[in-house]
Amino acid sequence: MKWVFATGNKHKVQEIRPLLPDGMELLSLRDIGCDEDLPETGSTIAANSLEKAVYVREKYGYPCFAEDSGLVVPAIDGEPGVYSARYAGTGDAGDNIIKLLARMRGVDDRRAYFVTVFTLAGDGSLEQFEGRADGEITLIPAGEGGFGYDPVFRPKGHDRTFAEMLPDEKREISHRSKAFAQLLIRLKSFENSNKL
Ligand code: IMP
Repeated sequence: MKWVFATGNKHKVQEIRPLLPDGMELLSLRDIGCDEDLPETGSTIAANSLEKAVYVREKYGYPCFAEDSGLVVPAIDGEPGVYSARYAGTGDAGDNIIKLLARMRGVDDRRAYFVTVFTLAGDGSLEQFEGRADGEITLIPAGEGGFGYDPVFRPKGHDRTFAEMLPDEKREISHRSKAFAQLLIRLKSFENSNKL
């Protein structure tokens, strides 16, 4: 069975692809001729995830899954949250980090978490799977890897930021991997029922 991962973000595809079992094929939006920006008009991460999956399922006719994710810092009212990608208004990850560090100046409670919600839009079914990675916002950026807020996010129990970790290290503990692990169980059950 071929599944479309409805994201235009190549970093997300790179994080997910190695987690797929042999024989399971993943199509990108480009593979199905979709080069438009998917709608994200919801006010929550879960709503945006659902919107993207339903849009691709209905418009392009492929079983698919989509994800939406973001960084949540409780001490500053949950910012950047659903606005994570466009927090500074420029769409630039460096600008988002500058804005976040400025907003957190003088804030002692630097606890934060990343959250991912996957939505699976199969044949007639809609299901959601959530994963979370807890940690804290560092005082200054560190590391060159990853994307987005990785240089200022240090996961709990570690002394390096996500951006200082190797891709495999981040994959082990990331919010996206945790959510995907649950999704994968469901994908496998679809595969098995297809073989019957
Ligand atoms: P989305 O592409 O609409 O889901 O927006 C997610 C945004 O949240 C990204 O553009 C990043 O700014 C941030 N984000 C989500 N996951 C991660 C991650 O694993 N590392 C760093 N930033 C992330």
